[in-house]
Amino acid sequence: MAVDPLWYKDAVFYELHVRSFADGNGDGIGDFVGLTQRLDYLADLGVDCLWLLPMSPSPQRDDGYDIADYRGIHPQYGTLEDFRTFLQEAHARGLKVLTELVLNHTSDQHPWFQEARASRTSPRRDWYVWSDTDQGYPGVRIIFRDTERSNWTWDPVAGQYFWHRFFSHQPDLNYDNPEVREEIWRIMRFWLELGVDGFRVDAVPYLLEREGTSCENLPETHQVLRWLRQRLEEAYPHQKVLLAEANMWPEDVRPYFANGDEFHMAFHFPLMPRLFMALRLEDRKPVVEIMERTPAVPEPCQWGLFLRNHDELTLEMVTDIERDYMWDEYAKDPLARLNLGIRRRLTPLLEGDRRRVELTNALLLSLRGSPFLYYGDEIGMGDNISLGDRHGVRTPMQWSGGYNAGFSSADTDRLHAPLVANPLYGYPVVNVAAQSQSDSSLLAFMKRLLRVRRQKARLFGRGTLRFLRPANHRVLAYVRELEGEVVLVVTNLSGAAQAVELELGELEGAIPVELFGGSLFPRVSHAPYVLTLAPYGFYWLELRWL
Ligand code: NOJ
Ligand code: CA
Repeated sequence: MAVDPLWYKDAVFYELHVRSFADGNGDGIGDFVGLTQRLDYLADLGVDCLWLLPMSPSPQRDDGYDIADYRGIHPQYGTLEDFRTFLQEAHARGLKVLTELVLNHTSDQHPWFQEARASRTSPRRDWYVWSDTDQGYPGVRIIFRDTERSNWTWDPVAGQYFWHRFFSHQPDLNYDNPEVREEIWRIMRFWLELGVDGFRVDAVPYLLEREGTSCENLPETHQVLRWLRQRLEEAYPHQKVLLAEANMWPEDVRPYFANGDEFHMAFHFPLMPRLFMALRLEDRKPVVEIMERTPAVPEPCQWGLFLRNHDELTLEMVTDIERDYMWDEYAKDPLARLNLGIRRRLTPLLEGDRRRVELTNALLLSLRGSPFLYYGDEIGMGDNISLGDRHGVRTPMQWSGGYNAGFSSADTDRLHAPLVANPLYGYPVVNVAAQSQSDSSLLAFMKRLLRVRRQKARLFGRGTLRFLRPANHRVLAYVRELEGEVVLVVTNLSGAAQAVELELGELEGAIPVELFGGSLFPRVSHAPYVLTLAPYGFYWLELRWL
């Protein structure tokens, strides 16, 4: 059967870290052999596409976002052959696979950088951004502000400063140099030929620098990205997907879709903290406001929605007051804060409250866009904020309550990161095996949610979204609609039971059918439609004209 080229608009994505997912050879580090063995779990969970964190050879000073060889597999994760097998097995189960394209910077251990720094006349010199002073591009913000003091670092070997937007061991590539652009395209081709379905493209706003600007979202950067997309379409027309990581306001992300000829997808960063804010404030306003501020995107394009990922919960796309509120409410422990964010997983952020975890997932899966789940969140895994950097949200997957959580047969001391072992979230309590045995587990709930969402994938992925404005502002309600199909989503953001009167106007005469249990609700009349909701309760109601 022909694959719909817009498949990503209906898909649910699952982000995972090979290092932390499953160890196949018993050395304490996750690898492709282990991941391949767990593909049945992912297919059974009901996701459509996997997104893998960086997997290429790397000194691992930024968990692989510091690449030393773009055409290989990090030896701890296996071989290219192991990757090929994994890809075949994933595809055989109907799962698509996105890998990382880290194009803004390399590791300082990359041979290109080693050659570039060695001499001013090296042909590689111009592959990076050099200066005799550290005064260029003044005022450009520092992203990793807890570790870096400047975007310039002195390289004693080169005898010059080099430019970097992230860690000082991650020199930025120079995209003004056509050789760099061509090489990145060749690298993309390499992986596309192997069969990957597309890329999550890292840190796209920062490709080029221009004096007197913020060096972010520059027209020149868009030009390079559109050029890459053009190459992609020429070589693989309508076959592959590009997803942008641009942590920006919606109006600044919109240009990354261009006329449908730049990125297929981009993450919606500002929505994420606002979902948490709405929940804490028990008020729909933050969500409605940001969604209404979100511009329409061309038909083949799609937003990527998420609650958590492998980074800190970033609070860059909020006001200072909102950030303080989020820190006060969600990161009382200063150890939980990192850069401008919060390094916690979903369930601990929500204080282990099952109702809130279910509600946020129900929102994630029913708002307009393609949802991204983060590995382990489907079982409510905890974190470990005493590990450095963002490692606390990247601990080994908890498969069972047995030896090393079923993650690895290695000596426990050799695991690449300690297992979460605290009394609330430790692997003896929170694990796949236990939750697979219970219909009332979070895992069972997530599977049901994913199953129902898949039945309505086109509607949730592509349908219109219209917010309702009931007087009760603790209720967030919206109508999703596609080609005559209508689903009404009603959610209670508060910890107390709520009643709500909804003006359903043109839906008069329809019978709402609750999508999880199939129960019929009273027919919609001309009068306001009254619903009551349990604390943090929600409904997905399909409107049928019976
Ligand atoms: C964004 C990635 O999500 C993050 O993990 C990484 O540290 C930076 N880009 C630098 O590559
Ligand atoms: Ca291993």
